[in-house]
Amino acid sequence: MTAKKIPVVKNGLHGTVKIPGDKSVSHRSIMFGAMNEPGKTVHVTNFLESADCLSTAGVMRSLGAKVEKIADGEMMVTGVGLNGLKEPSAVLDAGNSGTTLRLMMGILAGRSFLSTLVGDASLSRRPMGRVITPLSRMRAKIVGRENNSRLPITVLPADDGEKLKAITYDMPMASAQVKSAILLAGLRADGPVTVVEPYTSRDHTERLLSASGVKIEKSGTAVTIYPTDKLEVPAEIAVPGDISSAAFWLVAGSIIENSELLLTGVGMNETRTGIIDVLKDMGADLTIENERVSGGEPIADIRVKSAKLKAASLTEEIMPRLIDEIPVIAVAALLAEGTTTINGAGELRVKETDRLQAIVDEFNKVAPGHIDGTEDGLIIRGVSNRSELIPAICKSYDDHRMAMSLAVLGSVCGLSIENADCVNISYPVFYDTMEILSK
Ligand code: S3P
Repeated sequence: MTAKKIPVVKNGLHGTVKIPGDKSVSHRSIMFGAMNEPGKTVHVTNFLESADCLSTAGVMRSLGAKVEKIADGEMMVTGVGLNGLKEPSAVLDAGNSGTTLRLMMGILAGRSFLSTLVGDASLSRRPMGRVITPLSRMRAKIVGRENNSRLPITVLPADDGEKLKAITYDMPMASAQVKSAILLAGLRADGPVTVVEPYTSRDHTERLLSASGVKIEKSGTAVTIYPTDKLEVPAEIAVPGDISSAAFWLVAGSIIENSELLLTGVGMNETRTGIIDVLKDMGADLTIENERVSGGEPIADIRVKSAKLKAASLTEEIMPRLIDEIPVIAVAALLAEGTTTINGAGELRVKETDRLQAIVDEFNKVAPGHIDGTEDGLIIRGVSNRSELIPAICKSYDDHRMAMSLAVLGSVCGLSIENADCVNISYPVFYDTMEILSK
């Protein structure tokens, strides 16, 4: 396969981008819609039709729910009831999607039937013990390869009439996927289930379950869910734009000279807006306009104009609020004045690829000697002269966020990306959008 060439953007990026639907909310709208009261429908608009969310749709169909595409970005999901999912006749394929896999483990734990989950090569390398351990404490019977830590994973049927056990679980890491798996299992437990995180991760599960009539209490970084026998999911879910997708334009619009972009309908949930805080700290010219609420989530339009950026220092506390944005923040840091340090980002080593290593290896091809990796972070020395940058051939490692971050970097210096098509995982029209904005 030939590498995709990213040309230098000569006259800035200009235009308006309607930000595609949030990946996290799209997954949850299908999953919860499928467990809605039997026969009740959920109409999802601005649904992200990307490979990851389609994996979730496929899995819910295999479990007996009706999930139909009714127009571009519009899905109709018909519920089978919280306890109405059926034994699938084949393995459930989560593809590349950690969210599909981990949340499904919580949904499938302690059911009366057996299910087996598989995924692609990347997902098969990622750690699943972090979900199996707490679910096993809840009495779920889950087995997997490598001592119950890797795919394929089988969730065994519960003994007749046996419910999942209520627990309080102190999570060793901040992770919305792990938290959500436990909360979703908690829906069917024999008492309230509490999860405590070191720092609060994205709260889309809590919001949508609350909006579906489930009793949820928050106290600091602890969340308690009370079991129920039904979900009453809102009939309409308008998915906000994904701030993790907007992030590429926030950085591209900042670092490419003479740019001005208007990003519309961006989700502004404060568990996700770390990128805005960091870019503002770095001197980015961002204006938040037209703040409103949609689908139970705050949204806004963001105007970004090119600016001279300076280095930043990122520590562990902010990581859950920008965990997926580190690769593109690293691009901003490389083009900023001064040395940026990123600490407490060890979770990046277990994403779709080891993103810390991938950033060190690939960015150093473009800016040799400018990036050092640490055990849980990065040290990035900004380039003072953009003409030093080398139009290298870089690898995406089949990681969508690496590919898009490299494309943003490439728009400054030109480069090529191997396996560039993986943007389909979260932003299928990314390159087309870049071309339109460059004209
Ligand atoms: C997600 C949670 C995050 C994030 C992922 C989506 C979610 O993962 O990286 O892209 O939808 O819950 P972790 O919870 O494992 O950090």
